[in-house]
Amino acid sequence: MTSIVILTGAGISAESGLGTFRDEGGLWAQHRIEDVATPDAFDRDPARVHAFYNARRAQAAEARPNPAHLALARLEAKWPGDVLVITQNVDGLHEAAGSNNVLHMHGELSGALCHACDHRWPAPLVMDAQDACPACGARATRPDVVWFGEIPYHMDRIDPALSSADIFVAIGTSGNVFPAAAYGQHARRMGAHTIEFNTEISSASRDFADHRRGRASETVPAWVDELLAT
Ligand code: APR
Repeated sequence: MTSIVILTGAGISAESGLGTFRDEGGLWAQHRIEDVATPDAFDRDPARVHAFYNARRAQAAEARPNPAHLALARLEAKWPGDVLVITQNVDGLHEAAGSNNVLHMHGELSGALCHACDHRWPAPLVMDAQDACPACGARATRPDVVWFGEIPYHMDRIDPALSSADIFVAIGTSGNVFPAAAYGQHARRMGAHTIEFNTEISSASRDFADHRRGRASETVPAWVDELLAT
């Protein structure tokens, strides 16, 4: 049975109103990574880091899945083989669209994590550096997201999925952040047919056999229709 692995990035949520990182005017043009998205930044100024993620959590709470998210959920429901979404996104739009088989390799805005004891619990809409961990009481509450310099989540499940994928697609990711940036190359070497969906040429485009240029809200539903018709 044909197994499909789908890597998604900020571009799939752009048409739901969530800003990407590296497009013109993106989040990394407005904030310095080293101020808001590293363990050092959190040690130095936790309030600033929380303010950044509180703003993103508020935006994500208002966002709705777009036709690209919905098409992937439809694919999972109807495809006879395995469909796995590996997302770099910290929003919950794949789940809101109805996808069940989703790995958040960069964590989720909806989660809180204790920096002291690793306990996890659902994040309130507004997190504060003074929030106490419900398990150990430490005032070291952080968003459960993976920062630069940290190891992504679910690597134990991602590696075998890439190795056994028959089709690997990347949607709306610029191919600048590893390890995800190398997944196309990895899957292709292991025999997968690789397809990239992006509005532009990305840093990883050369690793893909097929390219679908255009907005994910149009290209992804068209691809899912194609697959389900075969
Ligand atoms: N449809 C398809 N692709 C799009 C669309 C769209 N509507 N809009 C933008 N894109 C593409 C852009 O051309 C770009 O290649 O989406 C990509 C977004 O790239 P980035 O902003 O770099 O986002 P991403 O690749 O997900 O970033 C990876 O970097 O900062 C970290 O942890 C953060 O998970 C994030 C990681």
